[in-house]
Amino acid sequence: MGAQAGTEGAPLAREELETYLVAQESLDLLRFITCGSVDDGKSTLIGRLLYEGQQIFEDQLETLAHDSRRQGTQGAAVDLALLVDGLAAEREQGITIDVAYRFFATDKRRFIVADTPGHEQYTRNMVTGASTADAALLLIDARAGVLTQTRRHAFICSLLGIRHVVLAINKMDLVEFSEARFRAIASDFAAFAQDLSFESVTPIPLSALEGDNVLQRSRRSAWYDGPTLMAWLETVEPRGARDGHDFRFPVQWVNRPSLDFRGYAGTVAAGRVAVGDEIRVLPSGHTAKVESILLYREQLAAAAAGQAVTITLDRELDCSRGDVLVAAKAPCEVADQFDVDLVWMDEEPGFVGRSYLMRLGTLTAGAQITEVKERVDMDTLETRPARRLELNDISTVKIACDRPVPFEPYRDCAPMGAFVLVDRYTNATVGAGMIRYALRRSRNVHTQALTVDRAARERLNGHPARVIWFTGLSGSGKSTIANALEQALHERGVRTYILDGDNVRHGLNKDLGFSDADRVENIRRIAEVARLMVDAGVVVLTAFISPFRAERELARSLFGAGEFVEVFVDTPLDVVEKRDPKGLYGKARRGEIPNFTGIDSPYEAPESPEFRVDTTDASVEEIVEQLLATFP
Ligand code: ADX
Repeated sequence: MGAQAGTEGAPLAREELETYLVAQESLDLLRFITCGSVDDGKSTLIGRLLYEGQQIFEDQLETLAHDSRRQGTQGAAVDLALLVDGLAAEREQGITIDVAYRFFATDKRRFIVADTPGHEQYTRNMVTGASTADAALLLIDARAGVLTQTRRHAFICSLLGIRHVVLAINKMDLVEFSEARFRAIASDFAAFAQDLSFESVTPIPLSALEGDNVLQRSRRSAWYDGPTLMAWLETVEPRGARDGHDFRFPVQWVNRPSLDFRGYAGTVAAGRVAVGDEIRVLPSGHTAKVESILLYREQLAAAAAGQAVTITLDRELDCSRGDVLVAAKAPCEVADQFDVDLVWMDEEPGFVGRSYLMRLGTLTAGAQITEVKERVDMDTLETRPARRLELNDISTVKIACDRPVPFEPYRDCAPMGAFVLVDRYTNATVGAGMIRYALRRSRNVHTQALTVDRAARERLNGHPARVIWFTGLSGSGKSTIANALEQALHERGVRTYILDGDNVRHGLNKDLGFSDADRVENIRRIAEVARLMVDAGVVVLTAFISPFRAERELARSLFGAGEFVEVFVDTPLDVVEKRDPKGLYGKARRGEIPNFTGIDSPYEAPESPEFRVDTTDASVEEIVEQLLATFP
């Protein structure tokens, strides 16, 4: 085991290095991830695998010895964790915060390990690392046993389709290598994992720090007769390659350096493609033949899963980033509504009705959570109904996209079914999901092409339609201004309609209260109604607190440029509280109305509204004059 690349420290001669690399190429490859809590000793364990696998080079060792003296936790000895905690920030803080891929090898196998972080908020990185992994190493501190986080990581591994797990029960030296402790933890985990879809779970007693059962069998655990960690890694069965799958190629970009060349660049997600193959472009469905496959300047006869290439076709097709080239005879499905498993990774909860960006492969689509079906309780694996998604929740939800998405269920083809949800406003990744199946519901709902269209209606009305969206605290003056503006427009012969919070909540939205989730849904419906009314040719004035930026942005996204006029009625809280026209602030302060905006529910002020008005320094008439000036 271990060193096959020359002896310690001796620089390799060039030929030796080449022989070594060739030998390595022929070895098979295991990708695995490590997950565990911050203090479980993950970095130390990986450091030990790398160290004993002789994959540390001389200069790294020197730096390591230096760093160990400076910040190590192991006295004068080399601190193996420092080897792995590559990022400066984590070195200083003593935690692991990003996925780092490491490479090492023995004479039996090559390994790529994704070292995934232990902090809960970094679940995203774990998902990223785990989707390509063959096996998972779940680290447990023998003193702490199985924690909720261990269960969450195991559950995610199972969702991601990892079949083999090693339960690395670490720090056995701190529990005197107690067999009873080891067995108790192993059976505790086995009871939990029996409902997950692992094929094997192998508990191993370890001390990463002292090297017990990592490569060498430990004399201190004579009662243990299973494999050492390295022996397990060398023999566990990798996931099958995706070569046998039908060809899938998400187009990353269209390479068009000159008029006579058009290549589609990307990475083969599954299957193989050869020159002359008939392919289909999804979602459009057009077909063509592969004319050439290029790797830099080199012409290839074929390309397989994992290879990044540029493909040219025998005819000009409409095809852009996010489209997928597939085998013409074995295309994947295209749908716009899905049932998915979703891991929520944002502090800010996820809501039904809120719109996010979905990134699946190279495609970006607008996506709305339309229903939270159930949330899994990590301690019992029971499912519970839920209305919103909290940090670290794992739930099944329905989502609807604003465009057709070529996909496959995750379990059939991971790269075609794994996606992330991104906040439209902050660009942060808020969720990671796996498509379970497509919902067919949308199939029969076609957009009707009608002969009398909006333009015709606007001509008849004699003016363009648009929406004036008032937002601000309760009592800020939204309704008053909207009313006065409507009156002035009406006198000019403009067709108008006011959608007002207090009124709509008596009818269309009478099922909604004032929780965050209900406000999200309130505004989503109003935005959709406003869109219909604008399509009807009407100038719509909406007067809702609409406290969340995300929903105001969603509303804006439903309209064309210049058609959505956001008016921020920026009357300060102390002023509206003094006015208190409906006596609601008084009640809220006395605790009689919970979740009152400005008191115990947030208001996210617009950053760049078309208009910002303040009723403390301008009269309603002046404000209306200003707004009227924008009408032709
Ligand atoms: S929104 O937040 O969903 O946009 P909306 O504008 O429809 O709210 O309704 C706000 C009106 O409902 C307020 O002007 C007030 O009259 C009333 N109201 C009752 N309870 C609350 C509450 N908890 N927070 C804010 N407004 C409330």
